[in-house]
Amino acid sequence: MAHHEQSKATFPEHIRKKRNGEQLSAGEIRDFVQGVKDKTIQESQIGAMLMAIWLKGMVAEETLALTKEMMMSGEVMSWPAEWEGLMVDKHSTGGVGDKISLVLAPALAACGCKVPMISGRGLAHTGGTLDKLESIPGFNVYQSVQQLHRILEEVGCCIVGQTDNLVPADKVMYALRDVTSTVDSLPLITGSIISKKGAESLSALVLDVKFGNAALYKDLDSAKSLAQSMVTVGNSLGIRTGAVLSRMNCPIGRCVGNTLEVMESLECLKGRGPDDILELVTSLGGLLLWMIGRAGSLDEGKKVISTTLQNGAALEKFQNMMIGQGVANQIAASLCSTNADYYSILRRAHYQTELETQGHGTVLDIDGMVIAQVLHRLGAGRSKAGDPVNHSVGAELLVSLGQKVEKALLN
Ligand code: URA
Repeated sequence: MAHHEQSKATFPEHIRKKRNGEQLSAGEIRDFVQGVKDKTIQESQIGAMLMAIWLKGMVAEETLALTKEMMMSGEVMSWPAEWEGLMVDKHSTGGVGDKISLVLAPALAACGCKVPMISGRGLAHTGGTLDKLESIPGFNVYQSVQQLHRILEEVGCCIVGQTDNLVPADKVMYALRDVTSTVDSLPLITGSIISKKGAESLSALVLDVKFGNAALYKDLDSAKSLAQSMVTVGNSLGIRTGAVLSRMNCPIGRCVGNTLEVMESLECLKGRGPDDILELVTSLGGLLLWMIGRAGSLDEGKKVISTTLQNGAALEKFQNMMIGQGVANQIAASLCSTNADYYSILRRAHYQTELETQGHGTVLDIDGMVIAQVLHRLGAGRSKAGDPVNHSVGAELLVSLGQKVEKALLN
């Protein structure tokens, strides 16, 4: 990238300005992000600026400038002209049992979209799409840009990890936010998420912003502000951006944990998924199809997505995506067969326990947060970056909301 004119002020002056609650100019924000990327400003200074942003916030103009500069800190993907208008993606702020991407990406590909989905790993108590996919033997989430093009050409969707050259400024800032208690800042979250989506050069993006006790943002109002901020910046970058606010108290679907969630996703792709997953997949996918003009209304879009789950078209895309990302043909075919014996391929947990109720009554709530925390401690998640996860740790809910239960009579 060409060298830019640095603003005259020194970096401590930029920090002071933000610390005092003043608005930073686009040039000052550029200095900051360039300095982060080129490592010409010290970590202590980055930390101080992050904290100043956390404390004083940013106006929409600053957030947009931050996001743009972050996006331009690395490679911005480019796609063939004939894919214009077809590039779509979804981002979720994270939940428990949130396996929507595994079903939605192939469903959208089956509708003719191109989905270069760049996903993450588990964060705090929430699961990560990459961890889930890695419970499939041979699945490689790291693909070169050339491979990514090839898979999009041949299949239409892929789900991959961030490459070194995609938004490198975010890598540095995210790691420092983690150790300076500055993760939960609206402009910093917006910059981090939307810069990565901007670098995918999308036509349309849908955001699934969770709220509730098992979400990262608990109350509806803060989820709404986050959605609004991301939608505004996404649209200003030229990506048609929409958001759905969805409740995150009970786990999504009936399975939580990497391997179990892959199995449940395959069941959805075979048209046998639970209603709540179906509702989210069709709503998010239907909205995207409507936004890019492939459906005349949200309802029509939902129906089109639903059809791809019922007629096997999405399943076929998932099978080909697995093969494209390194899974052996035979394994992919077995997993996708109608009566698949999943445990002949995926790892079953060593120990299994069925938890029985100690009384009788009606199920009024299922605390997704508690389930996630227990599974995390059993090894389903990691306590620091780079730790391995145990893919076979998981829980399957045997009851649903509203169900009556009673203590089993033994003997
Ligand atoms: N996911 C990201 O990529 N960045 C954030 O800041 C939060 C969630």
